[in-house]
Amino acid sequence: MFSIIAAIGKNNALGKNNDLIFHIKEDMKFFRATTVGHKVVMGRNTWQSLPKKLKGRENIVVSSNKIKGADKTISNLEAFIKDNLDTPEEIFIIGGGSIYEQFLPYAKNLYLTEVNASPEADIFFPRFDKKHYHRKTLQTGEQYDLTYKIIKYSK
Ligand SMILES: NC(=O)c1ccc[n+]([C@@H]2O[C@H](COP(=O)([O-])OP(=O)(O)OC[C@H]3O[C@@H](n4cnc5c(N)ncnc54)[C@H](OP(=O)(O)O)[C@@H]3O)[C@@H](O)[C@H]2O)c1
Repeated sequence: MFSIIAAIGKNNALGKNNDLIFHIKEDMKFFRATTVGHKVVMGRNTWQSLPKKLKGRENIVVSSNKIKGADKTISNLEAFIKDNLDTPEEIFIIGGGSIYEQFLPYAKNLYLTEVNASPEADIFFPRFDKKHYHRKTLQTGEQYDLTYKIIKYSK
């Protein structure tokens, strides 16, 4: 099973200049606690944006070239989706934009930190129809002038 995890703005902003936009401490904690011990799947740009490998998780990178330092590279995304769609294991899709877009139709859960701001961005989370999901608020909070909610959408 696939679960998407992302922090997004009101305008679906995800990233700018191959970096994150939001640096919310509690969100980072939530990301770590939720994904640790699991496989995490990311695109090559997101991999390159990380300061280092994500500890305690199998780091799987999607790319047309073999990625040095990753635990695994996926070059055939279609086959990976087909092979893992029905596994009981929760596999986390951690970005970026192109990877969220391709996994969205197959993701059972979306853990979205919805930040109450519309910053400038060059990468956006894909639009999706919320009425097809059950919605549960997991956390609410604020950091400086930003308020946010962590919502779990599930199908
Ligand atoms: N807000 C958040 O929660 C969050 C989370 C993660 C990332 N981000 C942000 O998102 C941005 C990066 O997103 P992005 O869309 O530019 O890049 P990305 O999705 O991280 O990576 C794109 C790359 O992945 C590979 N790829 C994608 N689909 C593929 C397929 N079907 N087969 C083979 N390879 C495939 C390609 O690599 P090759 O060119 O090597 O083939 C492609 O260039 C950054 O700004 C980052 O900070 C935000």
